[in-house]
Amino acid sequence: MTQQHKYRLLEQAEPGELARLQELVRNCNWRQVFHIQPSTGLLNDPNGLSYFNGEYHVFYQWYPLGTEHGMKYWYHLKSQDGVNWQDVGIGIKPGDPFDSHGAYSGSAIEHEGKLHLMYTGNTRDAGWVRHPYQCMAVMDADNHITKWEQPVIPEVPEGYTDHFRDPKLWKQDEYFYCVIGAQRTNLTGCTVLYRSIDLKRWEFIGELKTDLKEFGYMWECPDYFQLDGAGVLLFCPQGIAHQGDHYHNIYQSGYIIGKPLDVDALQLTHSQFQELDRGFDFYAPQTLLDGQGRRILIGWMGLPDISYPTDTHGWAHCLTLPRVLSVQDGKLIQQPLPELASLRQGEAQHVNDTLTSHTRSYDHFSGTTYELKCTFDVLDAEQVGIIFRAKDNEYSVIRYDVEHHKLVLDRSSSGVPLAIEYEETRQCNMTGKQITLHLFVDVSSVEIFVNEGEEVFTSRVFPSSQSEGIQFFSQEGSARLEATIWQLHPQGNTEK
Ligand code: FRU
Repeated sequence: MTQQHKYRLLEQAEPGELARLQELVRNCNWRQVFHIQPSTGLLNDPNGLSYFNGEYHVFYQWYPLGTEHGMKYWYHLKSQDGVNWQDVGIGIKPGDPFDSHGAYSGSAIEHEGKLHLMYTGNTRDAGWVRHPYQCMAVMDADNHITKWEQPVIPEVPEGYTDHFRDPKLWKQDEYFYCVIGAQRTNLTGCTVLYRSIDLKRWEFIGELKTDLKEFGYMWECPDYFQLDGAGVLLFCPQGIAHQGDHYHNIYQSGYIIGKPLDVDALQLTHSQFQELDRGFDFYAPQTLLDGQGRRILIGWMGLPDISYPTDTHGWAHCLTLPRVLSVQDGKLIQQPLPELASLRQGEAQHVNDTLTSHTRSYDHFSGTTYELKCTFDVLDAEQVGIIFRAKDNEYSVIRYDVEHHKLVLDRSSSGVPLAIEYEETRQCNMTGKQITLHLFVDVSSVEIFVNEGEEVFTSRVFPSSQSEGIQFFSQEGSARLEATIWQLHPQGNTEK
């Protein structure tokens, strides 16, 4: 396949091409039930996250004609509650002079009653040299989007390469600001800051000064916000070698936190880089501030440059569930959006038991789409945990190794394997005699919130649809178990 082939617009599809993809998708057993996913092709970063006109708006990077990273559109959904999403359709269509090779990632802010969408127009010249433009499009109250004719930032400033993208907007006092992910000409990653009074004329302020002078070769998808009195910079550094339990995915996603950014001195005083998620599939998150003043994060449940088992089924990836952020002791706490409770169907089922060196299953504890919250009080067990999406030799495991102070997610037997060159377990440090695990299991994913959002493990898994079993275990000793399960189903439909 030629490079150019991937940069086709929908209307350039061959006759029957889209219908063939749709047929493949229809026959796929791994379609999600309560996550945002593409109708065909590839979804990646969440974009333009906002609360506008009394509704949540989410856009995502979308290449409709295949599961490779091709011509990116912005696809648009909106929601009253942040849980049940309504398809709005294509938000930004690429293919104009300043986004000829894709409308890449960006963000949104309300100004004068309209939602302003700032994004990176990706272009390639005849010699295939990339030139990024920072572009603007404006959405009115009827969700009608108009692109501005000229880019608002047409050049990459001196000292940076053409890897210069993903503007994230915010307003502070009378100014608008945006951070942009960048690569210095010495091939190290960083973030730069721009300022504008009207969203039209932008002034380059400079590079954000952090302690991370040489930390990967490119920083993608920066997001800056203040929360609970702290300044937080999220970003996705590429090219970080793994270190102990850290940085095992192909690319990383995390944050630095400290004093609020001094926009004149460009100074960020911060503690060390912390990963946002401990799972296998998490990247390019973005946040919004909603009508209740909550800082909500949504990520891409996938990674670049990895093949996924759904590729042969004509689609790839989904977004994570929304998480509410707060700060505790210099760390971001992430909790599932409380409104997700509206997905619960039927009666909750409970269990209360003591496990002594054994593995148990319980009536009603099974399924492929559910929420499961459980607490283990460890008496003297060496390990406790949950086996889920299980049947015979297929299962996923979350295991608390009390003795070695580790919480481990193991997907080595989860079903169709993926990314095994990046290993099949992920783990983090964990201490204490009590642990709460809060799982949201969808047809091909799991999100595990640990101890009310202290850690999150987000991962795709590709088991067979018969793998519905759930078992709880304690090894080498006893633990008290208290668990509740709800079957989940959305009220609306994420697909047109
Ligand atoms: C991150 C990213 C962004 C870019 C977009 C293109 O996944 O590479 O940096 O804008 O995807 O789809």
